[in-house]
Amino acid sequence: MKDLTYRSIEDHSNAVKQALENPESFWSKIAEGFHWHKKWDTTLEYDFNQPSVKWFLGGQLNITENCLDRHLTTHPDKTSLIFEPNDPSEAAQHISYRTLHQRVCRAANMLKANGAKKGDRICIYMPMVPELTIAVLACARIGAIHSVVFAGFSASALAARINDAHCSLLLTADGGFRGSKVTPLKEIADDALLNCPSINNTIVLKRTGQHVSWNKKDLWWHEEVEKASDVCPAEVMDSEDPLFILYTSGSTGKPKGMVHTCGGYMVYTAYSFQNVFQYQKGDVYWCTADIGWITGHSYIVYGPLIVGATTLMFEGVPSYPDYGRFWEVCAKHKVNQFYTAPTAIRALQKHPTELVTKHDLSSLRVLGSVGEPINEEAWHWYDKYVGKHECPIVDTWWQTETGGILITSLAGITPQKPTYATLPMPGIQVVLLDAEGNELAGEAEGILAISHPWPSIARTIWGDHKRYKNVYFSAYPGYYFPGDGALRDAKGNYRITGRVDDVVIVSGHNLGTAPIENALNEHELVVESAVVGFPHDVKGNALHAYVIVNSKIIDETKMTDELRSLVAQTIGPIAKPDRIQVVSGLPKTRSGKIMRRILRKLAAGEHGSLGDVSTLLNPEVVEEIKKNS
Ligand code: PRX
Repeated sequence: MKDLTYRSIEDHSNAVKQALENPESFWSKIAEGFHWHKKWDTTLEYDFNQPSVKWFLGGQLNITENCLDRHLTTHPDKTSLIFEPNDPSEAAQHISYRTLHQRVCRAANMLKANGAKKGDRICIYMPMVPELTIAVLACARIGAIHSVVFAGFSASALAARINDAHCSLLLTADGGFRGSKVTPLKEIADDALLNCPSINNTIVLKRTGQHVSWNKKDLWWHEEVEKASDVCPAEVMDSEDPLFILYTSGSTGKPKGMVHTCGGYMVYTAYSFQNVFQYQKGDVYWCTADIGWITGHSYIVYGPLIVGATTLMFEGVPSYPDYGRFWEVCAKHKVNQFYTAPTAIRALQKHPTELVTKHDLSSLRVLGSVGEPINEEAWHWYDKYVGKHECPIVDTWWQTETGGILITSLAGITPQKPTYATLPMPGIQVVLLDAEGNELAGEAEGILAISHPWPSIARTIWGDHKRYKNVYFSAYPGYYFPGDGALRDAKGNYRITGRVDDVVIVSGHNLGTAPIENALNEHELVVESAVVGFPHDVKGNALHAYVIVNSKIIDETKMTDELRSLVAQTIGPIAKPDRIQVVSGLPKTRSGKIMRRILRKLAAGEHGSLGDVSTLLNPEVVEEIKKNS
């Protein structure tokens, strides 16, 4: 594969310039480095008002040939996938590119034998085991559209997703191991399928060996692959054919099935993976996300495999068997690039640093962060204890909708700045807008927007193009609107300040909740905090802070006074929360995001109308907050 890597800040600035001058020729040159059955006729056609975006039109490809077949001539015996099981006493698996290719082809033939064909939707509800990656790639091999549903979702959430996309097959497992818990996936799937008439068959992987009830549409994975050949020519796909659907929660109503297509997604995930992490031949790369989320799709499976990397897949959780597991795995597999979420870092930070320092982390070269703003304290802890001040930290801003990382530093190549995602990737045209949609120049704070399409932008919401237009292209016509606020420093670095819907106007002042939380988190007793607005007679809105503290508080009044003055010192007296409530946890989604929508309702005293809580991980916390309000 052609080398896509920027190796210096000059390479980066030249690329930014070229992409601005002629985006089509810029992306066209990058796309030439991939294996296409037929080259595209037109690089880009788009109209943000429609909205419609099409990349590499007329091009034909199969992404799995880029992930697998292409590497068989250059490095068939290289490890493609390292599987680290939940239980450290179970042996890790090292799967070569040759073996992964064979297993994907077999699984693809298994799907075909069970009636799957190009364009069908296949739901995957599986634990983090190699067969999950194999299932994803097997769908792509035959041109079926995969819809992975995170294995922590409930039966009703699973059913809603299956029905929305009319999936014809379900791939699941008897159960999944996560820490000391076993999730009865088949039982949950059985519940879901009571309401899913489109499913013809369920293929069940045996992972835990637990008892499962058996229905006439059920098939065992091991029996089905046994019958299948390991020769499976890849289906030739048009560049704009859908590759997958992935659901993300909306601010209202049902989840949005974001649709990603074959050509553009392939080009952008590989390009961004290679540049952000500066992957080098022989490196071991580990992203701790679950393949149920976009981070797992783009940066466990597709991006790393397209560039021929060794990608590590971890079945477990950071706290099992103890809070040193991440570091134990890094040491065991000599991980070079480690990519995780701030929520994990904050959780680990609460525990003795000896759990980190006792492991040999000398192989680490690059650290990454994703999913939410990383606060100063977590950034410095990560830098000091994990990176030993020697590993660049890439703070990567992106979304399910964007398919790949859009704002980030490139490890060791462009400067980092704690709590700043820093610069847009070359080829990504980021702007800041004021409330009226005017572009702001220079140092500024405003609404983040993107003025030109990039290859991996989601093309639509499955079955609801109107909603796609409303959510992303209507608020600021002519731009893609991600829903985040940001500020930009004099050097053009971006700092994400949080969702725009989290901005609170207090006495006419625009306050981002993220910087207030950063300030609160600086207090020695505070582990995590969330700030939301609530209606206030005089100020319009006031702030309610929920804080988790790391030990028993001796004097709560003293602590809240200190917190208020800390905020006043860091941001200004206007940002001082009116209320500070100590809580034992914050309502979170299963992916670790704080459900601010619920906190806003609770702060507003609307205890009875919390809206959709199907993705809420810890309802007990909500009950506790209600009780103590
Ligand atoms: O608010 C931003 C936040 O997560 C949102 C996207 O969430 P999701 O689609 O679940 O994808 C998460 C993984 C890519 C964004 O709109 N977000 C993501 N990364 C960052 C971030 N906020 C601040 N800094 C980041 N690095």
